[in-house]
Amino acid sequence: MIKITLTDTGLTLPLFAGETYFNYCWLRDACPSCIDPQTRERIFDVASLAELPRARSAHISDEALVIEWQAETQVSHIPLSLLESFATRGRAEDPADLPRTPWYADHGPRFTRVPQQAVLSDPDAKARLTRALIEDGIAIVTQMEGDEDSLPRLVNAIGPITPSAEGLFFDVRVEIEPTNLAFTSGPLEMHTDLPGEEAAPGMQFLHCLENTVEGGLSLFLDGVAVAEALREEDPDAFRLLADNKIPFFYRHDNWDYRAHQRVIETDPEGRVTGVTISQHLQDAMDLPQDLLDSYYPAFIKFLKMMQEDRFLVRFRSEAGNCVIFDNHRIVHGREGYVADSGTRHLRGCYTDRGALRSTYRVLAKQGFDGRTTAEPDLCSA
Ligand SMILES: [Fe+2]
Repeated sequence: MIKITLTDTGLTLPLFAGETYFNYCWLRDACPSCIDPQTRERIFDVASLAELPRARSAHISDEALVIEWQAETQVSHIPLSLLESFATRGRAEDPADLPRTPWYADHGPRFTRVPQQAVLSDPDAKARLTRALIEDGIAIVTQMEGDEDSLPRLVNAIGPITPSAEGLFFDVRVEIEPTNLAFTSGPLEMHTDLPGEEAAPGMQFLHCLENTVEGGLSLFLDGVAVAEALREEDPDAFRLLADNKIPFFYRHDNWDYRAHQRVIETDPEGRVTGVTISQHLQDAMDLPQDLLDSYYPAFIKFLKMMQEDRFLVRFRSEAGNCVIFDNHRIVHGREGYVADSGTRHLRGCYTDRGALRSTYRVLAKQGFDGRTTAEPDLCSA
């Protein structure tokens, strides 16, 4: 017989993680009857009760905690699996809660590569792609069709296109009156896109339509790997970049975006979730001048680390490939190229990081978790 102890505010019961306490309001809210089976939205308002819920009795039956309440006829059946998940993880099970895997300079050939047609028609291929985008933050879709709607077809398989100041799409090629250094043939220092926007774009798609120029190699690095290396080598510098926000902008004739961002982004557990870097869109620092005495050396150290060969993957964008990467994690740049040596044209757009995770969760629930042990397809590298 499992011993459940009732108190004034909650109950304790033995679980795999040990004796665990749950608050009555939380338990009443966790009752599956609170969720409408049709809309799958919450239809119970805990504030509608005349007083705080309190259990009259509780026992285990059919893998559920069954609670009779003192002031309600309602009986709650709360799955033990939910209680176990909160007891061990502090939150509900989430198939998309996959650890980020830091990667380094040698990882380029191992980027996950999936043909476009497979992403569009095979849920297993789409799961492999979306899982790689969560774990590695980068993947390549090969054999892109060349028509106008090819890129939106791919993006919409993962999430709705989210607009930026440039609109729904942007074209990376030499422009006569560029609004951004990307639209020139010059080198582009390592950066994340549009940090001046309050919520900088999430997942970036860069579809290479044509590339016949000399030079112009694409550069990518994993911001999580560099940030973790900084934490290891200089913890004080790491803290300065993780604790303070600095200003960014995006300014032209018809827009004036401004936002403050942390250069190293961490979650409540202290894990690095991303980075924000863009010297060409960085505004005049507005941290206190004496704090800058320590902030700038830390910041410069981090910028220099991003130029180190141990982190950088260089590859040539090939027509027909689309690189997808997490704009809050993967730092990208470009070597300069000879503008009149050919044509270089990339078309880009963004979707949301939450949309990516949503798509992966749906696939995982259907049994496609994207886990793979197969050798990567190096032929299309
Ligand atoms: Fe960019």
